[in-house]
This record gives sequence, structure tokens and C-alpha cells, in this order.
Amino acid sequence: MRRAVCPGSFDPVTNGHLDIVRRASTLFDEVVVAVGVNKSKNRLFTAEERIAMLEQACADFPNVRVDGFTGLLTTFCAERGIIAIVKGLRAVSDFDYELQMAQMNASLTDVETVFVPTSPEYSFLASSLVKEVAAFGGDVSSLVPDFVNARLTERLAERASMNDG
Ligand code: PNS
Repeated sequence: MRRAVCPGSFDPVTNGHLDIVRRASTLFDEVVVAVGVNKSKNRLFTAEERIAMLEQACADFPNVRVDGFTGLLTTFCAERGIIAIVKGLRAVSDFDYELQMAQMNASLTDVETVFVPTSPEYSFLASSLVKEVAAFGGDVSSLVPDFVNARLTERLAERASMNDG
């Protein structure tokens, strides 16, 4: 069983993430989408919400499952028999940091990092930009699954009313 991980924050999952997960699922026997739940960053969605959205979004991929992880990604990989970390590369600007992480992770355990070039239609896509555009009323319906778009609209409205009140 050749098992890989697609790690990320997924706050929220985008069509760009799903493109990488789907393609990883054709390369490996099993893919674990691992949602980083380290407490350090401010998130729009809780870990449970991000995991639930990914489970729904990946429901049609038979060899993909979703899990949360805390701590080091390499520890998660070692515990689960994961041999490869799959990362999407959008542009050269992603490369420096991704290479550094790949080399650090390889130095910690025996895990390979496999870079998959992002499909051109998603090369500009990032969860942070999706949130910003949606927060200012922009249309992100082509960038995330429909149910994620609905959750995003709902959450941003809740946040806006909290800030108003
Ligand atoms: O979607 P993101 O925020 O780019 O995902 C980053 C993530 C979660 C993949 C990365 O921060 C990570 O691997 N965090 C776990 C902690 C860890 O292993 N750090 C050492 C990296 S060399």
C-alpha cells in the first residue's frame, strides 16, 4: 500500500486543493488529506468544520480520506505509514519555501515530497484570497465547491454582524 498525504490548512478547501488531491489519488493507493489543526493561526473555520467540508468535497474519491493532525507532519507520516507528501506548486514563488520544508521534512524522517504543478486555471488560487474576495462581496463561485461557497457566505455574514454589533 503506497500511501501519501496532502497536508494543508484548508481554510476553506478550494477547487485548486481538490485538483491536487484528485491527481494525487491517481498516483498513490491511498491519499490522506491532513488538516493542520495547530492552534497558532487565526482561522475562519474551526478544524472540525474544515475537516467536514473536506470529507464532503472528497466523498467521490474512493481512495481518499480526511484526518486532522497536530504537531509535526513527519510524525503524522511516520505513525500512518505515509511515504510521500504531495504539494501543489502554483508558481516559482511557492518553490523556495516548499523546497525548504521538503528538505527539512526529509531530514526528520524518511519521507519524500512530491511536487505537482497546479493546473493553470487554479494558479492564482489561495484560500486567503478567496476569503478576502468573498468578504468584499466578490463572486468566488467558480473557485470553491458550491456548498463551501454557501458556508463562506454564511460565516462572513456572521462575522460582519458580530463586528457591527
Ligand atoms: O495550507 P498551508 O497553511 O500552506 O499548510 C501548511 C502546513 C500545514 C502543510 C505546514 O504548516 C505543516 O506541515 N505544518 C505542520 C508543522 C510542521 O511539520 N512544521 C515543520 C515544517 S518543515
